[in-house]
Amino acid sequence: MIPTMADHTFAPDARSEPYGVLTSGDAVDRIVLESSTLLVEVITWGARVTSIRSHDRDGRPGEVVLGLGDLAAYEQDRNYLGACVGRFANRIAAGSFTLDGTRHELPTNEGPTTLHGGPEGFDRRLWRAELNPTASSVRLHRVSEDGEMGFPGRLEASVTYAVEGNDLAVSYEARTSAPTLVNLTNHTYFNLTGSGSGTVEHQSIMVDGVRYLPIDKLRIPTGELRAVADTPFDLRTSTLIGSRLRGADEQLRRACGFDHTWVLDDSVPESAGTRRAARVDDPRSGRSLEVWTDRPGVQFYSGNFLDGTVRGRDGVSYRQTDALCIEPHTFPDAPHHDHFPSAVLRPGDVYRAHDIYRFGRV
Ligand code: GLA
Repeated sequence: MIPTMADHTFAPDARSEPYGVLTSGDAVDRIVLESSTLLVEVITWGARVTSIRSHDRDGRPGEVVLGLGDLAAYEQDRNYLGACVGRFANRIAAGSFTLDGTRHELPTNEGPTTLHGGPEGFDRRLWRAELNPTASSVRLHRVSEDGEMGFPGRLEASVTYAVEGNDLAVSYEARTSAPTLVNLTNHTYFNLTGSGSGTVEHQSIMVDGVRYLPIDKLRIPTGELRAVADTPFDLRTSTLIGSRLRGADEQLRRACGFDHTWVLDDSVPESAGTRRAARVDDPRSGRSLEVWTDRPGVQFYSGNFLDGTVRGRDGVSYRQTDALCIEPHTFPDAPHHDHFPSAVLRPGDVYRAHDIYRFGRV
């Protein structure tokens, strides 16, 4: 049984149950992972995080991520709710790239751009689940065949979700049969006040980067690594989200808010292999969230393209700023910028990435 919102205590566990059947006829399972303070639900379609319940300052559990009512609604979704995105998270300009002298054409899904791995990316694929109840974790894996969405190489990919105390730890691994690009992340929409409670503008954010990547009109990095100092992108101290969104800054206008990568380099202190990328504080619920990662960058996205057409599981329409995403990744459009960290994976090498979503108190 999945605990209801009225239950005040969770217990360490991992279990699986049928969730629904896709239009293709394939069955999808839901996995429930629990610690004493956190309950996380994941479905095998898109390796999507469909629910996270965490305690508020009074110890009451509440839903803190946007989600949809059923599998049919997830099949319609084009906002990547909770999804694992890949093979290449964020944008590849002009739907093509050249690797080792060979040009690869990718299907496009945002004008001339390939976004989040293309129209049928990892977010719309069925993953297999291996449960580890003693560790409150699940390993989801899938094979992305050579040529899937235009990418070369047969890629064996896995994502492991583990609930450890107040942490949701997410680990990615991939191996390829031929040189390819890999950049995997998770696209959960967080609202620490509560899913469906309206805007996150009263919440505060810190993003730890000293530089960020300005974008062009198609929201693709220009290649510049720009200092955040004296710009609205200076989020090195906790900043009310709503205080920045309506500024006249050209970069904010291009993205209709925040939708940029911050650079996580040596200027951000490291601890045990990860750096803190961002922190969100919600004074209303008393919840906080920190995201730690071993990646070179993090995207802070203020839910700018939620337009009210998606109805959440709570029955309310999700609108601009009703949630935010913190997406650790390597830099968008990396294959077109030699000075960006490489996103190339070669046979014999293992792609590994590790992120921690840490819940706490304001
Ligand atoms: C990422 C992108 C945004 C948007 C969302 C999905 O965060 O950077 O521009 O495409 O995904 O809607």
